[in-house]
Amino acid sequence: MARLQINEVAPRDGLQIEAAFVPTADKIRLIDALSATGLARIEATSFTSPKAIPQLKDAEEVVRGILRREAVGITVLVPNLRGCERALSCQVDEINLVMSSSDSHGLANLRMTPTESLERFRTILESTAGSGVFVNASLSTAFGCPFEGEVPPARVYELVGKLIAIGVDGITLCDTTGMANPAQVEKLCKDVLARWPGTPFTLHFHNTRGMGLANALAAWQAGITRFDASLGGLGGCPYAPGATGNVCTEDLVHMFEQMGVDTGVDLDALLAVSATLPTLVGHDTPGQVVKAGKADRRYPMPRF
Ligand code: COA
Ligand code: ZN
Repeated sequence: MARLQINEVAPRDGLQIEAAFVPTADKIRLIDALSATGLARIEATSFTSPKAIPQLKDAEEVVRGILRREAVGITVLVPNLRGCERALSCQVDEINLVMSSSDSHGLANLRMTPTESLERFRTILESTAGSGVFVNASLSTAFGCPFEGEVPPARVYELVGKLIAIGVDGITLCDTTGMANPAQVEKLCKDVLARWPGTPFTLHFHNTRGMGLANALAAWQAGITRFDASLGGLGGCPYAPGATGNVCTEDLVHMFEQMGVDTGVDLDALLAVSATLPTLVGHDTPGQVVKAGKADRRYPMPRF
């Protein structure tokens, strides 16, 4: 059974929506603690407009300040050429280009339709050629759009095909506001894996309607081994109404480890980092295992 590859997105998807700015030194401490837990990749920040995402305006300082470990890929979200140039100047391992599957979310989030994003990506790919940086593209609203509703699978396949044709190395299908259900996920994952067997596909779920882990399981059963997840279940897109947290990393790792699926992650170490989040962000987090303990937790029998 293939080991899972987990991309930890709390420092980006998690912190981008927090009301309070998390100080740069705290972000660096969080990422350094996470990179010691066995995670495959960490999405450390985003190189977006500081007006659009003020919480991540310290992107350069964060990427230059963190410990770099051989086994842990550092990826960053990039919406345009300016963001790509900023990212490359910090020696990231991967850039994660973001675009929407739906026109309305594209305009709300990025002021670009998917067609316009694709045009810009062409120029970005010219600038990354020969750099050795892995270029991933994330397709937001791939399972439904909070403005338009249903996003037809044919639309998603068309965009995936175009992204691969212009030369991206990997694709993430994102359920930006938790609209996906397991049957839909299984079908979409099976289809993309069958049509593009050479492309690494990652799945990115939000737990907005309580279906995050069920969707991750459905994706895994369809053959997906790469997942985005966020420590403590933090997260959400500030430009998608009703957005809430990602599927929680430690809950995801706990589920798969309980099933005997290797995640490469030291769950106890991850839980210890998760326990520091409430102090960092100033509120409780939606993560469940950090509160309940792992399934092997035992309590003393009550006295009769
Ligand atoms: N990094 C830093 N600054 C940037 C930038 C980048 N990647 N891209 C644009 N800017 C700055 C420009 O310099 C300009 O600054 P100014 O007003 O001081 O002159 C301003 O942002 C507007 O630039 P423009 O090219 O007109 O962009 P825009 O206003 O159309 O915004 C995006 C487009 C993509 C840059 C912006 O919407 C964005 O950063 N969105 C991020 C969305 C996001 O991360 N959502 C959550 C994750 S899915
Ligand atoms: Zn997200």
